[in-house]
Amino acid sequence: MPPSLRAPRGTRDLLPDEQAAFARLERIARDLAARYGYHEMETPLFEQAAVFERGIGAATDVVEKELFRVTPSRGEEREAWALRPEATAGICRAYVEHGMQTWPQPVKVTVTGPMFRYDRPQAGRYRQFWQWDIEAIGDPGPAVDAEVVELAARFYRDAGLADVELILNSIGDPACRPAYLADLVAHYRANEARLPELERRRLETNPLRLLDSKDPAMAEVNAGAPRITDRLCPACAEHFAAVRAHLDAMGVAYHLEPGLVRGLDYYTRTAFEFYRRGAEGQQQALGGGGRYDGLIQLLGGKPTPGIGFALGLDRVVLALASAGATRPTAAAPVAVVVGADPGDTQGRLRIATELRGAGLPVRADLAVRKLGRQLEAAVREGAQFAVILGDELVAGEVQLRDLDGGSQKAVPLADLPALLRRKVRG
Ligand code: HAM
Repeated sequence: MPPSLRAPRGTRDLLPDEQAAFARLERIARDLAARYGYHEMETPLFEQAAVFERGIGAATDVVEKELFRVTPSRGEEREAWALRPEATAGICRAYVEHGMQTWPQPVKVTVTGPMFRYDRPQAGRYRQFWQWDIEAIGDPGPAVDAEVVELAARFYRDAGLADVELILNSIGDPACRPAYLADLVAHYRANEARLPELERRRLETNPLRLLDSKDPAMAEVNAGAPRITDRLCPACAEHFAAVRAHLDAMGVAYHLEPGLVRGLDYYTRTAFEFYRRGAEGQQQALGGGGRYDGLIQLLGGKPTPGIGFALGLDRVVLALASAGATRPTAAAPVAVVVGADPGDTQGRLRIATELRGAGLPVRADLAVRKLGRQLEAAVREGAQFAVILGDELVAGEVQLRDLDGGSQKAVPLADLPALLRRKVRG
C-alpha cells in the first residue's frame, strides 16, 4: 500500500544525491557572488503580504493567484502574511527598514533559498522551488545592468550549461510607458473579438502581460502590436543602447525580444531572461531579472534605482540532467573502520571517533557481522579505505586496505590520520 502521508503536491524531497546537485550549484553561486562583490543575506520566508502586493503588483499572477497566504492558528497578531514568492521585494523591504540608503551605494546583496508559488505543478514548475537571487541597489546603470547580466550568463557556463540564450528588452519607464500602454490597449481593443477570454480580462488589469501570452491564438494579434522599443523616451532609449554597448564590449551574446515584459510589475527599463536554446516558448525560463527603479519608493523608501536577477536552481538541475551532465553524488567517507571481531563495536567506534576528531570523514561499521560483510558494505558505499582492527591493535597497529587498488599494509595508529589526510580525494 502506498504511504498515506506524502510531500504536498508541487513540493519535493531533495534526497541526498539530488541535494548534492543543488549544493554544487549553490557553491558555484556563492563563489561567483563573492567574486563579483555581492554579500550574502537572508530575509524571512514569510513577510507581510503587503510587501508583495505593493512590490510585485496586486494584478500579477504571482500575487493574485499564486500567493501562499499564512494565517497563524492563534495569537494576537492580525497581520496578513504570505510565504515569499520571490526574494526581490523582501530584500527591498529590508533595504528601506534598515536604512541601507546611508550605506555606500550600490548595496550588492544575494539570497539563496526556497520560494513559494501556488501554481499548477508540472515538470520544472513547483510550489516550492529554489532561487539564487542577486540585487544591486542604488546604481541607475547602464554599466551595472550589463555587469549583472554577464554574472548570470557566467553562472550557467560555470554550471556546465553551454546552450543557454539571453533574451533582452527594455520596457521603458513612467515617462514613456503610459503613452505606449495606451497605444497597446487601443491595438488590443481593435482586435478584441480575437482575444481569448483570459486575455480579454487581463486587458483590463495588466495589458502588458498580453504581449508574452503563450496562447497560440495570440500570436497573430501580438505580431501586429506596437513595440515598446519603438516608443522609448530618449532617456530610456539611450540607457538601453548603453546596456547593449556594455554587453557587446564584454562579448556577451543576446537576442533582442520586444515582447519580453516579465511577470512582475516592478520592472522598468532593462528586462532579461535565460532559456535553453529551442525552449523559449515553453514558459520554462532558467532565470530572469531586470531593473526596478520604482520599487524601493513603492515600499516606502526614497526613490532608489535597482537591478537584479533570480535563477531557478531546480530548472538548472533539470537542464543539466537532460544535457547528460554527470551528477555529483553524496560524499562517501574516506575510510570505514571495520574489525575481525564482530562484537567489538566499542573498538570500531573509538578509532572512528579519533579519526573524526582529526577532521576526517570516517564511518564505523556498527553492525555485529562478519568482517567480510563489513568490507562489502564499505565497498558498496564507495569508501576509499578500510581500517581493519585485528590482533595488531594491542601493538598499536591496524591494517589499512586500499579498497580501490586492493593492497593492504600494517600501519601504526598514530600515523593513520596524517596518512588518510593525504589520501582524501581532492
Ligand atoms: P521570476 O522570473 O519570477 O523572477 O523567477 C525567476 C526564476 O525562478 C524563473 O526564471 C525560474 O527559473 C524560477 N521559477 C519561478 N517560478 C518557478 C516555479 N514555480 N518552479 C520552479 N522554478 C521557478 C523573479 O523572481 C524576480 N525576483 C527576479 C529578479 C530579481 N528581478 C530583479 N531582481
